[in-house]
Amino acid sequence: MTDYSSHTALITGASRGLGLALARRLAGEGWTLLIDARGAEALEAARAELSEITRVISLAGDVTDEGHRRALAEASRDVGGLDALVNNASILGPSPQPQLLDYPLDVLEQVYRANTIAPLALIQAVRNQLKPGARILNITSDAAVEPYESWGGYGSSKAALDQISNILAAENPSLRVYWVDPGDMRTQMHQEAFPGEDISDRPLPEESVPGLIELLTDELPSGRYEARAIIRNSRG
Ligand SMILES: NC(=O)c1ccc[n+]([C@@H]2O[C@H](COP(=O)([O-])OP(=O)(O)OC[C@H]3O[C@@H](n4cnc5c(N)ncnc54)[C@H](OP(=O)(O)O)[C@@H]3O)[C@@H](O)[C@H]2O)c1
Repeated sequence: MTDYSSHTALITGASRGLGLALARRLAGEGWTLLIDARGAEALEAARAELSEITRVISLAGDVTDEGHRRALAEASRDVGGLDALVNNASILGPSPQPQLLDYPLDVLEQVYRANTIAPLALIQAVRNQLKPGARILNITSDAAVEPYESWGGYGSSKAALDQISNILAAENPSLRVYWVDPGDMRTQMHQEAFPGEDISDRPLPEESVPGLIELLTDELPSGRYEARAIIRNSRG
């Protein structure tokens, strides 16, 4: 079994949902974790839980804030560099989501700032802290490629993230860059997307984690992946 005790991952948005599910799994395998979220209370609860099993540094802050990203980069340096950066933090935008002709443009800018600009800005901030062979995972969505009505703000922010990832991979063949659709998951964001609906039939985020682990630990080429299909495909 591989010893991951010298491995470190920076996961944004790890106070709940997919980010926390991934953090729990990596903690169990001995990775050192650097985690963030805006809400300090939920982040502290996550840190307290994870630090029972591994070394965890948590920094409350907003990925759209340059000073916070600088603090994350400094913490990455202090822990000896990163084996993985997981750009997971994301916002939906208004709930319910408006159609594009009615979409408030100031809110659209916030969605792009969080979902598109911040991931690239964080990659730029930590570029010198990426160890050889480090992986970058940018969490995307099927809304980036499907014309779902009222998903134009969030969906286009993820479409731009996809193409940023695609070109980043082409420009940096020595890096492994993955843009990964985790699939529908029973999380706070999904409930916001379907206000008032029963979403109990959606899979828990834990079901998307094994695919992310495969990307973090195997040698798959840079590219776009569906997290739950990676495991299906590797089982043949
Ligand atoms: N759920 C789905 O069905 C689904 C489907 C496809 C793709 N995705 C993608 O999967 C990823 C995880 O989503 P999720 O469903 O787990 O979402 P979630 O439950 O809403 O969790 C989002 C996490 O990100 C943090 N966050 C949000 N904005 C942030 C910011 N500006 N700076 C720092 N942290 C921030 C949140 O904490 P704070 O709010 O306290 O900051 C929370 O920890 C996202 O990239 C999402 O777009 C989700």
